[in-house]
Formats: sequence, C-alpha cells, structure tokens
Amino acid sequence: MKKLPEHFIFGGATAAYQAEGATQEDGKGAVAWDAFLKEEGRFSPNPASDFYHQYPVDIELCEKFGVNGLRLSIAWSRIFPDGVGEPNPKGIAYYHDVFKQCIEHNVIPFVTLHHFDTPKALFDQGDFLNRDNLDAFVAYAKFCFEEFTEVKHWSTFNEIYPVATNQYLLGVFPPGIHFDFSKVIMCLHNMMVAHARTVNIFKDNKYPGEIGVVHSLETKYPVSDSPEDIHAAFLEDAISIRFLLEATYLGRYTDDLLAALDEICAAQNASYDFLEADYLEMEKASHRNDFLGINHYQCHFCKAYQGPNEIYHNGTGEKGSSVYRVNGIAERIYRDDIPRTDWDWLIYPQGMYDLLVRIKKDYPHYKKIYITENGMGYKDEFEDGVILDTPRIDYLRQYLSAISDAITDGVNVEGYFLWSLMDLFSWTNGYNKRYGLFYVDFETQKRYPKESAYWYKQLSETKTII
Ligand code: NOJ
Repeated sequence: MKKLPEHFIFGGATAAYQAEGATQEDGKGAVAWDAFLKEEGRFSPNPASDFYHQYPVDIELCEKFGVNGLRLSIAWSRIFPDGVGEPNPKGIAYYHDVFKQCIEHNVIPFVTLHHFDTPKALFDQGDFLNRDNLDAFVAYAKFCFEEFTEVKHWSTFNEIYPVATNQYLLGVFPPGIHFDFSKVIMCLHNMMVAHARTVNIFKDNKYPGEIGVVHSLETKYPVSDSPEDIHAAFLEDAISIRFLLEATYLGRYTDDLLAALDEICAAQNASYDFLEADYLEMEKASHRNDFLGINHYQCHFCKAYQGPNEIYHNGTGEKGSSVYRVNGIAERIYRDDIPRTDWDWLIYPQGMYDLLVRIKKDYPHYKKIYITENGMGYKDEFEDGVILDTPRIDYLRQYLSAISDAITDGVNVEGYFLWSLMDLFSWTNGYNKRYGLFYVDFETQKRYPKESAYWYKQLSETKTII
C-alpha cells in the first residue's frame, strides 16, 4: 500500500466566483462573467454554493473530515469594486472572518489573488493585455499582503494558460474571442510579468509566509513515434507548459521555446513582443518562488495537424463531443485504451508522475510543489442522502498513487488540494459537472458527504492510499 508523508496537506480547493454566489452583495463590484453568463443564458453564478453565507458550515466540515488546508481565492472586486480606488470595508471584513474561522478549525488557508475574475472595469480595458492593469493587480496584491497578515500562503494567479486560451483561443470565457494567438501569447507573458512583480514586492518587503503561482499543466504525448507527431507534442507542450515554467523558473525564454513560438505564430498569423525590462523583473523573481502550485487533471495525445482551426468545447458532458485541431500545432486524439470522463478528460495518472519528475529534473531549484487541483468531474447520483461516487475514489486513488511514486523518486510534493471541497458552479458547465467531496443541493444549500469524503478522511488520518 502506498503512503503519503506524515506532514502532508490533505486540502480541498475552491474559487471565489465558483463557491461564493452573492455576486451583488455588500458592495461587490461587477466582473465580466456577470454579463457574459447572462447573455449566454445557460446558467447563473448565483447561488453557486453560497459560500458567502455557508462558509462556517464548510469550514467545520473540513475539520470533521480531515481536510487540513483550504484553497480559496479572494474576489478582487469585493476588495476593490472597480479594481482600483477605495477599498470596500465589507469585503475586507468578510475575508478576515473566513480566514479566522479556518485558523480556529485547524484548516490552513491557501489564498489565490486572482482566479479568473478580474474586475469588469479593468477587464473592459483589455484585462491583462493592457499593461496598466498589471499595475492595478500588483497594487491589489500589495494591499492584501498588508491587510491579511493572518494568511501565510499566497498564490498570485490561478491557471494563466487557461485564462489566455479560454479568453482568446476557445472563446469560452469572456470576452469570447477565437483563435487569436497574438493575444494568447501576450496574455501569458503579461500575466507572468505581473506574477514576477508581485513576487519581488513580497520578497523585497519581507512579508511573512510563502508565495507561488498555480499553473495548469496537462502533460503532452505524441500519439505515434512519427517525427511529425513528436513535433506536434513538442509544440503543444511549448506553448502550454514550457512557456510558463521557463517564465517562472528561468525568468526568460530559451531559444528552443522562442523558435516554437515563432513556428506557431507563422502558422497562426500571429506575433509577439516582449520587453527587455520584463526579463529583468522575471529573472529576479525566478529564484524567489516558494512553491509551484500544479493543477493537473488530464493529459493529451497529439497528432500533427495542418488544416482549418476547429475547436469544440464539451461543456455539457456529452462524451465524445470534444474536438481540438489547431493548424500548425496539433490535433488531440483519444485513445481507446485510455478511459476518459464524460467531458472527455483522459484519465492517465502516468501524466502526473511524468510531469512531477520533469519539473525536478528541468528546474532543480523549484523548492516545493503543491498539487493545487486534481479531481474528477462526475454526474453524481443522489439517493436518499447517499452518494456512491466510486469512479471518483478510483480516480483519486490512481492520481495520489502517482504522486506518492514521484515523492518516493525524490520530488518534493508537500500537499494536495482536491478539486473541489464541495460541489461548485462550473464556468462552462454550470451545475451538472460535480467535483465535490460534499454534495451540494443547490436548492436548499444543504451539504451531504459523498463516499469519497469518508475515503479522504481515512486517507488524511492514516496517510495510506487504500
Ligand atoms: C481548473 C480551475 O481552476 C477551476 O476553476 C475549474 O473549475 C476546475 N479546473 C475544473 O475544471
């Protein structure tokens, strides 16, 4: 039986917009999602899991079920309704109380400053494509470091690659733009510059605690041994993984990476422009990250592809409906021998192991890793308060075993945050894609522990994966 270390964090993960609801309460400012979702008319971000009011219940459940870390985000627009200007005392008081309750219940808060929810006033001016907004983000981060001194674990951003691609490639996040690689690349780079500036301020001012960034890293493999497919996997990896790891840990981009970007730009009629001053900032930060947060759920098998761009995002759970073919980069292929979820996410824990070992090898000064998200989206069945989510337990067992193997092979992973603590609102799937340890009846807001919650509790108590 595989084990996890004695002092390991067995956490649960959430995000403000997906958990809190109350999008217009107590002076919260608007975010682009409010109008975007309304226009789409598919589902509403309210009530979500009503964490804005239910947090005492959720934090108590953490303690009861051995969840000793809670990953959550601050909604920037609860603190600064327009992104900049006068802070909102009610928003500040709310988060102080959330953190206080966590600490009282022996649950360590791990706080993300930005989880897909730039205040609308700034978003409308170009979000992170607008360099002025980098200043606004850094000022907001500094405010939080000085205000929330009870927090000792900070992440700057959640999932920079999905921000860039969902906004400007897939178009499933506001502002809903498709296939604009110039914007994708500049968004990735600018957010990494904002991250570096924030880390440097945190360290220069000697704020207590630790700081890092959360990247979504989905391992890429060629679907065959052909040089073309190997190159397709290399390009997919370059833009989605290596770009971010080089920015984080080298503070600049290697020639190989820039050559891959040039190839992608040529195929997609795109361009980029990185300032020399940015590299100085990024290099300074590159040895100051205390941890890397990794969100990892799945991997991709890549085949060379030349043809029209075609992406269909499976946001309904209709298995087999996903399409991903991007000219000059890759087509993603399912493999019949690899199981996948109803949302077509490949269940391949080897991808977790390979990723962890690679980080240790390529960036030996990485210090520490937290798996900040992993879990299984599933259409849970509720029967008289009982939720037998055996496939989820099976998924968790496999991925945690891969993490345990990586630790045995010398990778320093110090914690795991299961996505999600309770069922949440999903950005592109609404309410039928459930991930929680706790089932949420969205009508009554009552919580019910799933079978996986009991399984996770014994894991946290025994550190043994059974
Ligand atoms: C990544 C994101 O951080 C989170 O917001 C999302 O809901 C989950 N993965 C599941 O897709």
